[in-house]
Amino acid sequence: MYKNILVTGGAGFIGSNFVNYWAQNHPQDKIIVLDALTYAGNRHNLANLENNPNFSFIHGDICDRTLVDNILEKENITTIAHFAAESHVDRSILTPSAFIQTNVIGTFTLLESFRHHWAKQNQPQEYRFLHVSTDEVYGSLDIDDPAFTENTPYAPNSPYSASKAGSDHLARAYYHTYNLPTIITNCSNNYGAYHFPEKLIPLMVINILLGKPLPVYGDGQNIRDWLYVKDHCSALDAVLHRGKTGETYNIGGNNEVKNIDLVKLICQIMDEIAPDLPVKPSSQLITFVKDRLGHDRRYAINSTKLKTELNWQPSINIETGLRETLQWYVNNPQWWQPLLSADYQNYYQQVYKK
Ligand code: NAD
Ligand code: TYD
Repeated sequence: MYKNILVTGGAGFIGSNFVNYWAQNHPQDKIIVLDALTYAGNRHNLANLENNPNFSFIHGDICDRTLVDNILEKENITTIAHFAAESHVDRSILTPSAFIQTNVIGTFTLLESFRHHWAKQNQPQEYRFLHVSTDEVYGSLDIDDPAFTENTPYAPNSPYSASKAGSDHLARAYYHTYNLPTIITNCSNNYGAYHFPEKLIPLMVINILLGKPLPVYGDGQNIRDWLYVKDHCSALDAVLHRGKTGETYNIGGNNEVKNIDLVKLICQIMDEIAPDLPVKPSSQLITFVKDRLGHDRRYAINSTKLKTELNWQPSINIETGLRETLQWYVNNPQWWQPLLSADYQNYYQQVYKK
């Protein structure tokens, strides 16, 4: 059966990659994007789809219950893929309230609206509420701890991860209480095209292109597990088509890398692929700066469940995915240059002034 999918946050980094992926792989499905176009939302990410009759865009807030009710009814929504969130840890340290509003209240609003919509349609079995979340809800690992599984207790350490944990608990509770067909995914760090400049990889790439310092927090020994965003999209496809309601699936890239090693690799690739860099070798720009407050040491994901139950595994290793991503930033300055606005400079000053 064809789906009418409401994609919240579909103009952001992962959401827009997902919408582009879905339109290509499931062209018969109808896609409706609901996005508030915060600083992180960008309509240009969806430019390829503007003339697609199965795609539409609604500018609005997931906290607006009346708007969400109207969309679910009018568009006959069968599936929600919920990406909309405040997503950056450093911003959550500076201004946590937006995180509570969108991540907790916004998710609650969507769940409530979807619950009534689903009940009105006599609780169709094929309806889905896919709640896209993060591995950060599990907290921080020591170097020799086993990777997070779906049974790892929640221990969020930042306002961002705490707000995501709250929203995960709501999605879980709506399944247990109302039998609402929710599924939760907890994913590791994504990278790829359309990633907003504030995050580690695009920030380093853009600073290399501009000849600016590359700020590495603390001792640079923190570890993240990196997943190419297109692999995340194929995992969500598997979960939406074959996943069991009420379940959680961890999604990881099997690519644990120390921040400093990743930054050095980025420098090495940029030195090869980018013509006329202002500073070369670009590794000269690496600068250790004061650590992030409460900085989690290590994330690592065990995605055995996804592999054994849904037959999914990542297909792209970090070298290949990183090369493709870096080339995309080199080729598309018209995408990222306008994002370095006065507001962004102001944010940058606040985080990096130390
Ligand atoms: P992003 O910040 O790039 O995009 C978020 C999008 O949500 C933007 O388009 C923004 O305009 C929209 N939005 C924000 N508040 C809204 C509101 N109140 N109503 C409607 N739209 C709103 O985020 P991302 O990196 O694409 O992350 C998407 C989801 O995936 C998030 O839920 C995040 O927690 C999760 N996640 C991200 C990563 C990662 O590495 N980026 C990893 C795991 C999970
Ligand atoms: P980030 O991309 O913000 O993702 P997250 O905090 O959700 O993992 O950061 C990835 C890692 O890189 C994290 O350990 C913090 C570190 N980092 C820096 O060292 N310098 C920076 O300027 C940024 C943005 C991040």
